[in-house]
Amino acid sequence: MCVATVDKNRQPYQRIVLLKYFDDKGLVFYTNLGSRKAQQLAKNPHISLLFPWHMLKYQVIFLGRV
Ligand SMILES: Cc1cc2nc3c(=O)[nH]c(=O)nc-3n(C[C@H](O)[C@H](O)[C@H](O)COP(=O)(O)O)c2cc1C
Repeated sequence: MCVATVDKNRQPYQRIVLLKYFDDKGLVFYTNLGSRKAQQLAKNPHISLLFPWHMLKYQVIFLGRV
């Protein structure tokens, strides 16, 4: 999935991560807590996730907080 975060200047960043699992509380991915995305999320918990679904000509987007 594509994970979008924003930095302290509100500059958006995106990168691919692996969805590990999901349940009724939300979606889970693993990352290094020292990574740029983790640092950005520590300052601004708003996040967007995107799953492209080319075969069906769909995309599925999640908006929320970590
Ligand atoms: C197919 C694929 C799967 C990836 N999965 C993860 C992942 O599960 N967790 C992760 O931290 N980075 C993953 N990465 C690396 C991230 O895309 C990214 O380069 C890295 O986490 C550093 O991002 P950051 O500097 O924005 O924190 C994956 C990359 C690719 C291409």
